Amino acid sequence: MSTPNNKPWTGRFTAPTDAFVEAFTASVGFDYRLAHHDIMGSIAHARMLTRAGVLTTAEFAAIEGGLTEIQAEIERGEFPWETRLEDVHMNIEARLTERIGVAGKKLHTGRSRNDQVATDVRLWLRDEIDAITHELTRLQVALLAVAEREADTIMPGFTHLQVAQPVTFGHHLLAWFEMLQRDRGRLSDCRSRLNVLPLGAAALAGTSYPIDRAYVAELLGFASVAENSLDAVSDRDFAIEFTACAALLMTHLSRFSEELVLWSSPAFDFVDLTDAFCTGSSIMPQKKNPDVPELVRGKTGRVNGHLVALLTLMKAQPLAYNKDNQEDKEPLFDTVDTVRGSLRVYADMVAVLRVKSDHLREAARQGFATATDLADYLVRRGIPFRDAHEAVGRAVRLGVETRRDLAELSLTELQTFSPVIGEDVYAVLTLEGSVAARDHFGGTAPRQVRAAIARARARLGNP
Ligand code: ARG
Repeated sequence: MSTPNNKPWTGRFTAPTDAFVEAFTASVGFDYRLAHHDIMGSIAHARMLTRAGVLTTAEFAAIEGGLTEIQAEIERGEFPWETRLEDVHMNIEARLTERIGVAGKKLHTGRSRNDQVATDVRLWLRDEIDAITHELTRLQVALLAVAEREADTIMPGFTHLQVAQPVTFGHHLLAWFEMLQRDRGRLSDCRSRLNVLPLGAAALAGTSYPIDRAYVAELLGFASVAENSLDAVSDRDFAIEFTACAALLMTHLSRFSEELVLWSSPAFDFVDLTDAFCTGSSIMPQKKNPDVPELVRGKTGRVNGHLVALLTLMKAQPLAYNKDNQEDKEPLFDTVDTVRGSLRVYADMVAVLRVKSDHLREAARQGFATATDLADYLVRRGIPFRDAHEAVGRAVRLGVETRRDLAELSLTELQTFSPVIGEDVYAVLTLEGSVAARDHFGGTAPRQVRAAIARARARLGNP
């Protein structure tokens, strides 16, 4: 009996697949992206089967040669991807058989697409995490360079987006560095948890061939072998975990974006995002819009969405593999592209960020940013903190009413709020005095910022 419509699995079928179902169930339109790692996995599998005596050396040579040629064909963009063949795995296997004949039909011995796809995605994601980490490093290095340049630059620090206390711009940038450093740690944890070989689990129960899984793990650089075959083919925790890391990373970039959007607006005018990272308006000639930060802030939404999609994809799946899992690819691919692209553009943009230090200083000077320093001064002269707070509050009220900052009030005026105030008060009311006084580990004093930058470079392994 002839089999309908020429697929690798049609033996038990009597009727061809409905044309729309064929297109609906196919994944090759997106999973072709796994081709390189699929081929790596196949060569390792075939090498192991040869060592185990399941394939002959000649068969292995034909398989390896054929797959290498297919890899080149894919790179040249000449590979004839066919929807009829469903996914990347069956496309490559069918092409191999077309090229090398019967040896190609032996490649799938002792393996299933279930453990194959789980292996491919892990191999692929491992490389992508390395590439993402590289972009992350570039961004962190750029941040440290600007932080070093602006270690003495004074800006208003905010809480509730109201001027709170003066901080140094370098210190503010180091806060961003810390967020990214935690993202780096999370990505590295995720990488080590996914670096486990599923291959050998076959469809779900393992295989009766004398396979050597440790050898395959070694060939593919996996740190260990999955313990349980059912778990190996059905686990997508690594994809969810990665997407969670990515969502948090994007959340950081999004907060970062929010600040850059505010700071580059004429109302703040703290920084200039160079022209290469902005666009104009088709109607308003004066506009220079911070498109890059805005887009990154916007793209955070899709990554958060992918996290929810993947969690929802898994939540009701019984063991072991289910076709549902084919739906993990597009969210994962898009997450990788979004994070990688966002980090790349941010690294380039931060490297050329122009900081308007005079405007930053002026903004810090205007918002009574040294009010806490005045209260601390009174405390040092024996006034209880609550009373000091009250006295300074009244001084600020006079400043608001007469449109002057604390440093612009005369000594006689200041003394009406507390008789202990002396001429030396003006030293604490200066911005430089305020930041220099916060001179402890993790503080904003320029000296501390420089020390923190040196530690940050060491933590990055001095790239
Ligand atoms: N394209 C499938 C996926 O992405 C490959 C595994 C298919 N396995 C199966 N038994 N139909 O998950």
